[in-house]
Amino acid sequence: MEIRIIVNGAEKRWNVEPGELLIDVLRDNGYKSVKKGCGSADCGTCTVLLDGRAVLSCSVFAASVDGKSIETLEGLGSEQQLHPIQQAFLDASAFQCGFCAPGLIMATKELLEKETVLTEDQIKRELSGNLCRCTGYENQVKAIGGLMEKKREGK
Ligand code: FES
Ligand code: FES
Repeated sequence: MEIRIIVNGAEKRWNVEPGELLIDVLRDNGYKSVKKGCGSADCGTCTVLLDGRAVLSCSVFAASVDGKSIETLEGLGSEQQLHPIQQAFLDASAFQCGFCAPGLIMATKELLEKETVLTEDQIKRELSGNLCRCTGYENQVKAIGGLMEKKREGK
């Protein structure tokens, strides 16, 4: 079937097979930031925003997103001009291998739309679906706390 979707602001018409997963369709069409870690809804590396909500693209049928809007990391910053979330994580040295970064950044984007006042423990709980095997989360949580503070201050 053909699906018509908006990906990072651009309209796409893609042919998808019944049962094909969104993660595979996105990657096949060049959105390689969407990473397949577990493929079983456990790690969060495949997180994208679907109509503004964070979803695990390894658990969503591509056919079900017809008419919807998707945002991936490719739609955020560029190498020359990082998105503020990317810049905050970079400034905090929040990643080591970086494999978890695309999913965590997209999940953070959704979180910042909903919440600007959370303790470090609450931030950890909110993002507990995004696993990082390298860092222990400390600098990631600090970076998110800093982003929330800036948002509260209207920066
Ligand atoms: S690849 Fe989707 S949650 Fe791990
Ligand atoms: S930085 Fe390596 S998995 Fe998170």
